[in-house]
Amino acid sequence: VVLAAPGALDALGDHVRAAAPAYRYVIITDETVGALYGQRAAASFAGTDTVEILTIPPGESMKTRDTWSALTDQMLAAQYGRDTTVIALGGGVVGDLAGFVAATYMRGVPVVQVPTTLLAMIDAAIGGKTGVDTPRGKNLVGAFHPPAAVVVDQMVLASLPLAVLKAGMAEAIKHGVIADEAYFDRCVAVIPTLLAPGGTHSPAMGRLIAGSIGIKEHIVGQDAREGGVRKILNFGHTIGHAVETLSGYALLHGEAVAIGMTAESMLAERVGVAAPGTATRVRNALTRAGLPVAIPSGIAPSDVVALTHGDKKRRGATIEYALPRAIGTMAGADSGWAVAVDDKMVRATLDDVYRS
Ligand SMILES: NC(=O)c1ccc[n+]([C@@H]2O[C@H](COP(=O)([O-])OP(=O)(O)OC[C@H]3O[C@@H](n4cnc5c(N)ncnc54)[C@H](O)[C@@H]3O)[C@@H](O)[C@H]2O)c1
Ligand SMILES: [Zn+2]
Repeated sequence: VVLAAPGALDALGDHVRAAAPAYRYVIITDETVGALYGQRAAASFAGTDTVEILTIPPGESMKTRDTWSALTDQMLAAQYGRDTTVIALGGGVVGDLAGFVAATYMRGVPVVQVPTTLLAMIDAAIGGKTGVDTPRGKNLVGAFHPPAAVVVDQMVLASLPLAVLKAGMAEAIKHGVIADEAYFDRCVAVIPTLLAPGGTHSPAMGRLIAGSIGIKEHIVGQDAREGGVRKILNFGHTIGHAVETLSGYALLHGEAVAIGMTAESMLAERVGVAAPGTATRVRNALTRAGLPVAIPSGIAPSDVVALTHGDKKRRGATIEYALPRAIGTMAGADSGWAVAVDDKMVRATLDDVYRS
């Protein structure tokens, strides 16, 4: 159940009690989001319910097994039982981490996702993937744990740093590329409105959030466990995750995915899968949103290729990519939505990305 309404944060307690009633509630958030919205979220539970807030430092570097165990230990020490609902209040980092805590705590308690970044609203909070990073790569340990509800309040986007807002646009553009050309064109058209002052409060932002959630839910609804069509959501993420890890998380996830989509759409043209011009349209859309499209010079292409092999999307000896045929259509409908690509092709494409 996705509940999206301006002001929904102040009714959070009601939404949570309706979707996942429990004896105790625990809000997991990061320091930045907690300072901005923690009290409002807790106050929405006014009445007899016990609500506690657990806070972690912000940032991707916190999405680890260590943080997972620290949060779990705090809950055990406070004697939370099975009759507990976890509320993930924050961006994708908090959502993935708190979701994984909930997935494993006493073999699983409900989680309600309350995404506070654009990226988390339109992507990370939808679809039930939770997990943590390891030194070998992103999201390598985790669980499918669909939320009991997702509560989206676009008003909280007003406090987002512009770079974080732009990073969220990368996943909206991805949704257009993988599923809907008309949506892609609408996204590109409204980018200046969304990024202008006040854009986060605009009806256009509400439509973008609803549109992207609809696309992601439709795909996940056909293939919850990523046996087939859900793989198309990984467009841009095989190279993107490698670049993100190699940047030491200096790049935001959405920024790394922007670079990854640029590279993978060029790769799609190089291997003859994508119609010529597809990569240019992808790159222009990302540039219009102020997103990076070139790999930072400190990252070696050979390291990127090597890290794609550590990616969990690997199957046997070949690396499979989710590649576009054109804007709005993905390749590989007859081959499980994945296209096996030789490293040499990837390497040649990366050399072009550095030059672009
Ligand atoms: N589970 C999935 O399906 C899925 C999908 C896409 C991405 N992800 C994951 O999501 C993560 C990226 O998420 P993200 O981009 O939201 O990053 P994030 O959670 O690190 O948030 C970015 C920054 O914004 C701050 N912030 C969050 N909300 C704010 C607000 N309303 N006002 C002011 N500051 C705010 C945070 O404190 C943080 O510093 C990655 O770990 C990625 O792997 C998961
Ligand atoms: Zn992503």
